Amino acid sequence: MPDQPIAIVTGAYRGLGYETCRQLAKQGYQVLLGARRGADGQAAVDALVEEGLHVSFALLDVTDEASRLSLRDRLQQVFGRVDILVNNAGIFPDPAPSDPQSSILQADLETLRRAFETNTLAALRLCQLLIPLMAEKGRIVNVSSGMGQLSDMNGFCPAYRLSKTALNAVTRIFADELGADSGIKINSVCPGWVRTEMGGENAHLSIEEGVKGIVWAATLPADGPSGGFFRHGEPIPW
Ligand SMILES: NC(=O)c1ccc[n+]([C@@H]2O[C@H](COP(=O)([O-])OP(=O)(O)OC[C@H]3O[C@@H](n4cnc5c(N)ncnc54)[C@H](OP(=O)(O)O)[C@@H]3O)[C@@H](O)[C@H]2O)c1
Repeated sequence: MPDQPIAIVTGAYRGLGYETCRQLAKQGYQVLLGARRGADGQAAVDALVEEGLHVSFALLDVTDEASRLSLRDRLQQVFGRVDILVNNAGIFPDPAPSDPQSSILQADLETLRRAFETNTLAALRLCQLLIPLMAEKGRIVNVSSGMGQLSDMNGFCPAYRLSKTALNAVTRIFADELGADSGIKINSVCPGWVRTEMGGENAHLSIEEGVKGIVWAATLPADGPSGGFFRHGEPIPW
Protein backbone atom coordinates (compact mmCIF):
# COMPACT_ATOMS: atom_id res chain seq x y z
CA MET A 1 0.00 0.00 0.00
CA PRO A 2 1.74 3.22 -1.11
CA ASP A 3 0.29 5.44 1.65
CA GLN A 4 1.02 3.05 4.49
CA PRO A 5 3.32 4.76 7.02
CA ILE A 6 6.77 3.21 7.41
CA ALA A 7 8.52 2.31 10.67
CA ILE A 8 12.02 0.95 11.28
CA VAL A 9 12.84 -0.73 14.60
CA THR A 10 16.48 -1.62 15.31
CA GLY A 11 17.69 -4.71 17.16
CA ALA A 12 14.26 -6.22 16.73
CA TYR A 13 14.45 -9.98 16.23
CA ARG A 14 13.68 -10.55 19.93
CA GLY A 15 12.70 -8.74 23.12
CA LEU A 16 11.25 -5.26 23.20
CA GLY A 17 12.14 -4.54 19.58
CA TYR A 18 10.23 -7.56 18.29
CA GLU A 19 7.08 -6.73 20.23
CA THR A 20 7.36 -3.09 19.14
CA CYS A 21 7.34 -4.30 15.52
CA ARG A 22 4.23 -6.38 16.21
CA GLN A 23 2.36 -3.53 17.91
CA LEU A 24 3.22 -0.97 15.23
CA ALA A 25 2.27 -3.39 12.45
CA LYS A 26 -1.06 -4.02 14.22
CA GLN A 27 -1.64 -0.27 14.14
CA GLY A 28 -1.25 -0.31 10.35
CA TYR A 29 2.40 0.59 9.92
CA GLN A 30 4.55 -1.17 7.37
CA VAL A 31 7.42 -2.22 9.61
CA LEU A 32 11.03 -2.93 8.78
CA LEU A 33 12.38 -5.26 11.45
CA GLY A 34 16.09 -4.49 11.78
CA ALA A 35 18.58 -7.09 13.01
CA ARG A 36 22.22 -7.86 12.41
CA ARG A 37 21.57 -11.63 12.39
CA GLY A 38 20.12 -12.63 9.02
CA ALA A 39 18.58 -15.98 9.91
CA ASP A 40 17.14 -14.85 13.26
CA GLY A 41 15.83 -11.64 11.72
CA GLN A 42 14.14 -13.43 8.83
CA ALA A 43 12.61 -16.01 11.21
CA ALA A 44 11.20 -13.17 13.34
CA VAL A 45 9.72 -11.52 10.26
CA ASP A 46 8.24 -14.82 9.06
CA ALA A 47 6.48 -15.29 12.42
CA LEU A 48 4.91 -11.82 12.22
CA VAL A 49 3.90 -12.27 8.58
CA GLU A 50 2.21 -15.53 9.67
CA GLU A 51 0.07 -13.36 11.96
CA GLY A 52 -1.01 -11.41 8.89
CA LEU A 53 1.17 -8.39 9.66
CA HIS A 54 3.00 -6.23 7.13
CA VAL A 55 6.62 -6.65 8.25
CA SER A 56 9.81 -7.06 6.25
CA PHE A 57 13.43 -7.66 7.16
CA ALA A 58 16.26 -5.13 7.17
CA LEU A 59 19.74 -6.53 7.75
CA LEU A 60 21.18 -3.85 10.02
CA ASP A 61 24.18 -3.77 12.28
CA VAL A 62 23.65 -0.40 13.91
CA THR A 63 27.39 0.03 14.55
CA ASP A 64 28.34 -0.50 10.91
CA GLU A 65 28.28 2.58 8.65
CA ALA A 66 27.87 0.62 5.41
CA SER A 67 24.89 -1.18 6.95
CA ARG A 68 23.34 2.10 8.13
CA LEU A 69 23.81 3.72 4.71
CA SER A 70 22.28 0.71 3.00
CA LEU A 71 19.18 1.05 5.21
CA ARG A 72 18.93 4.77 4.40
CA ASP A 73 19.27 4.07 0.66
CA ARG A 74 16.62 1.34 0.76
CA LEU A 75 14.15 3.57 2.60
CA GLN A 76 14.85 6.39 0.15
CA GLN A 77 14.58 4.26 -2.98
CA VAL A 78 11.71 1.94 -2.04
CA PHE A 79 9.47 4.22 0.05
CA GLY A 80 10.88 7.72 -0.41
CA ARG A 81 10.44 8.36 3.31
CA VAL A 82 10.28 6.96 6.83
CA ASP A 83 7.75 7.89 9.51
CA ILE A 84 9.06 6.20 12.68
CA LEU A 85 12.58 5.35 13.86
CA VAL A 86 12.83 3.29 17.05
CA ASN A 87 16.45 3.17 18.22
CA ASN A 88 15.99 0.02 20.27
CA ALA A 89 19.21 -1.96 19.67
CA GLY A 90 21.25 -1.98 22.84
CA ILE A 91 23.95 -3.82 24.75
CA PHE A 92 24.74 -4.13 28.42
CA PRO A 93 28.46 -4.93 28.22
CA ASP A 94 29.38 -4.37 31.89
CA PRO A 95 30.24 -7.43 33.94
CA ALA A 96 28.01 -8.28 36.93
CA PRO A 97 28.26 -5.77 39.81
CA SER A 98 30.14 -8.38 41.86
CA ASP A 99 32.99 -8.26 39.32
CA PRO A 100 35.66 -5.62 40.18
CA GLN A 101 35.57 -4.43 36.55
CA SER A 102 31.97 -3.34 37.00
CA SER A 103 33.28 -0.59 39.27
CA ILE A 104 34.13 2.73 37.64
CA LEU A 105 37.38 2.51 39.61
CA GLN A 106 38.52 -0.34 37.37
CA ALA A 107 36.21 -0.38 34.35
CA ASP A 108 37.81 -1.23 31.02
CA LEU A 109 37.63 1.72 28.62
CA GLU A 110 37.10 -0.66 25.70
CA THR A 111 33.86 -1.82 27.36
CA LEU A 112 32.75 1.81 27.66
CA ARG A 113 33.62 2.45 24.02
CA ARG A 114 31.55 -0.53 22.89
CA ALA A 115 28.56 0.69 24.88
CA PHE A 116 28.84 4.17 23.37
CA GLU A 117 29.16 2.79 19.82
CA THR A 118 25.92 0.80 20.08
CA ASN A 119 23.78 2.61 22.64
CA THR A 120 24.65 6.21 21.81
CA LEU A 121 26.52 6.85 18.55
CA ALA A 122 24.54 4.38 16.44
CA ALA A 123 21.29 6.04 17.48
CA LEU A 124 22.75 9.48 16.80
CA ARG A 125 23.94 8.42 13.34
CA LEU A 126 20.62 6.84 12.39
CA CYS A 127 18.91 10.10 13.37
CA GLN A 128 21.32 11.99 11.11
CA LEU A 129 20.66 9.66 8.20
CA LEU A 130 16.88 9.22 8.53
CA ILE A 131 15.62 12.64 9.68
CA PRO A 132 16.01 13.97 6.11
CA LEU A 133 13.51 11.27 5.06
CA MET A 134 10.96 12.33 7.69
CA ALA A 135 8.69 14.87 6.08
CA GLU A 136 7.39 17.10 8.90
CA LYS A 137 5.85 14.32 10.96
CA GLY A 138 8.58 11.88 11.91
CA ARG A 139 8.68 10.21 15.30
CA ILE A 140 11.95 9.03 16.88
CA VAL A 141 12.13 6.94 20.04
CA ASN A 142 15.47 6.47 21.72
CA VAL A 143 15.04 3.46 23.99
CA SER A 144 16.91 4.56 27.09
CA SER A 145 17.00 3.42 30.70
CA GLY A 146 16.45 4.60 34.23
CA MET A 147 20.07 3.54 34.74
CA GLY A 148 21.00 6.62 32.68
CA GLN A 149 19.10 9.05 34.91
CA LEU A 150 21.47 11.63 36.45
CA SER A 151 18.84 12.33 39.07
CA ASP A 152 19.10 8.73 40.29
CA MET A 153 22.68 7.84 39.37
CA ASN A 154 24.26 5.01 41.34
CA GLY A 155 27.53 3.13 41.18
CA PHE A 156 28.56 0.16 39.01
CA CYS A 157 27.83 -0.74 35.39
CA PRO A 158 29.34 2.55 34.12
CA ALA A 159 29.42 1.56 30.44
CA TYR A 160 25.67 1.03 30.24
CA ARG A 161 24.84 3.97 32.53
CA LEU A 162 27.05 6.51 30.74
CA SER A 163 25.92 5.41 27.27
CA LYS A 164 22.25 5.85 28.18
CA THR A 165 22.83 9.21 29.90
CA ALA A 166 24.56 10.33 26.70
CA LEU A 167 21.70 8.93 24.62
CA ASN A 168 19.35 11.15 26.62
CA ALA A 169 21.55 14.14 25.74
CA VAL A 170 21.34 13.10 22.08
CA THR A 171 17.54 13.27 22.41
CA ARG A 172 17.68 16.76 23.93
CA ILE A 173 20.13 18.17 21.36
CA PHE A 174 18.19 16.86 18.35
CA ALA A 175 14.91 18.08 19.81
CA ASP A 176 16.30 21.56 20.36
CA GLU A 177 17.90 21.83 16.92
CA LEU A 178 14.86 20.43 15.12
CA GLY A 179 12.47 22.73 16.98
CA ALA A 180 8.70 22.54 17.02
CA ASP A 181 8.33 23.75 13.42
CA SER A 182 10.02 20.63 12.05
CA GLY A 183 7.00 18.55 13.08
CA ILE A 184 9.44 15.81 14.09
CA LYS A 185 9.26 14.52 17.66
CA ILE A 186 12.17 12.79 19.37
CA ASN A 187 11.93 11.39 22.88
CA SER A 188 13.78 9.07 25.22
CA VAL A 189 11.77 6.21 26.71
CA CYS A 190 12.63 3.95 29.62
CA PRO A 191 10.54 0.78 29.20
CA GLY A 192 10.86 -0.13 32.88
CA TRP A 193 12.50 -3.35 34.06
CA VAL A 194 11.32 -5.92 31.54
CA ARG A 195 11.69 -9.72 31.29
CA THR A 196 13.90 -9.95 28.20
CA GLU A 197 17.31 -11.47 27.58
CA MET A 198 18.82 -8.21 28.90
CA GLY A 199 16.38 -7.62 31.76
CA GLY A 200 16.43 -11.22 33.04
CA GLU A 201 13.64 -13.37 34.43
CA ASN A 202 13.27 -11.47 37.73
CA ALA A 203 12.20 -8.23 36.02
CA HIS A 204 8.84 -6.74 37.02
CA LEU A 205 7.26 -6.24 33.62
CA SER A 206 6.23 -8.45 30.72
CA ILE A 207 7.45 -7.49 27.26
CA GLU A 208 3.92 -6.41 26.34
CA GLU A 209 3.86 -4.02 29.32
CA GLY A 210 7.33 -2.71 28.49
CA VAL A 211 6.60 -1.80 24.88
CA LYS A 212 3.50 0.25 25.65
CA GLY A 213 5.53 3.39 26.38
CA ILE A 214 7.71 2.86 23.32
CA VAL A 215 4.71 2.54 21.00
CA TRP A 216 3.07 5.54 22.70
CA ALA A 217 6.11 7.73 21.93
CA ALA A 218 6.40 6.34 18.38
CA THR A 219 2.80 7.30 17.55
CA LEU A 220 2.46 10.67 19.30
CA PRO A 221 -0.13 13.06 17.86
CA ALA A 222 0.88 16.42 16.39
CA ASP A 223 0.45 18.14 19.76
CA GLY A 224 2.52 15.53 21.62
CA PRO A 225 5.78 16.29 23.43
CA SER A 226 9.32 16.31 22.03
CA GLY A 227 12.66 16.33 23.81
CA GLY A 228 11.36 14.50 26.89
CA PHE A 229 12.14 11.40 28.92
CA PHE A 230 9.19 9.10 29.62
CA ARG A 231 8.28 5.82 31.28
CA HIS A 232 4.87 4.30 30.53
CA GLY A 233 3.85 7.59 28.87
CA GLU A 234 4.64 9.72 31.94
CA PRO A 235 7.55 12.19 32.16
CA ILE A 236 10.47 11.17 34.40
CA PRO A 237 13.46 13.23 35.57
CA TRP A 238 16.67 13.20 33.52
N1 LIG B 1 14.87 -5.18 29.48
C1 LIG B 1 14.96 -4.15 30.30
O1 LIG B 1 14.69 -4.26 31.51
C2 LIG B 1 15.39 -2.81 29.78
C3 LIG B 1 15.35 -1.72 30.66
C4 LIG B 1 15.72 -0.46 30.21
C5 LIG B 1 16.11 -0.32 28.88
N2 LIG B 1 16.16 -1.38 28.03
C6 LIG B 1 16.59 -1.16 26.65
O2 LIG B 1 15.67 -1.75 25.75
C7 LIG B 1 16.32 -2.04 24.51
C8 LIG B 1 15.95 -3.46 24.08
O3 LIG B 1 16.48 -4.38 25.01
P1 LIG B 1 15.80 -5.77 25.42
O4 LIG B 1 15.48 -5.67 26.85
O5 LIG B 1 14.74 -6.12 24.44
O6 LIG B 1 17.05 -6.75 25.32
P2 LIG B 1 17.54 -7.81 24.25
O7 LIG B 1 16.56 -8.90 24.09
O8 LIG B 1 18.94 -8.13 24.66
O9 LIG B 1 17.56 -6.98 22.88
C9 LIG B 1 18.63 -6.20 22.47
C10 LIG B 1 18.64 -6.28 20.96
O10 LIG B 1 19.65 -5.37 20.44
C11 LIG B 1 20.32 -6.05 19.43
N3 LIG B 1 21.63 -5.47 19.11
C12 LIG B 1 22.68 -5.28 19.93
N4 LIG B 1 23.71 -4.76 19.24
C13 LIG B 1 23.27 -4.61 17.95
C14 LIG B 1 23.86 -4.12 16.76
N5 LIG B 1 25.13 -3.68 16.72
N6 LIG B 1 23.12 -4.09 15.64
C15 LIG B 1 21.85 -4.54 15.64
N7 LIG B 1 21.24 -5.04 16.73
C16 LIG B 1 21.95 -5.07 17.88
C17 LIG B 1 20.41 -7.48 19.95
O11 LIG B 1 20.75 -8.37 18.91
P3 LIG B 1 22.07 -9.32 18.93
O12 LIG B 1 21.62 -10.66 19.41
O13 LIG B 1 22.51 -9.33 17.50
O14 LIG B 1 23.09 -8.69 19.85
C18 LIG B 1 19.00 -7.68 20.46
O15 LIG B 1 18.14 -8.02 19.39
C19 LIG B 1 17.81 -1.81 24.76
O16 LIG B 1 18.19 -0.57 24.22
C20 LIG B 1 17.91 -1.79 26.27
O17 LIG B 1 19.02 -1.04 26.73
C21 LIG B 1 15.81 -2.63 28.45
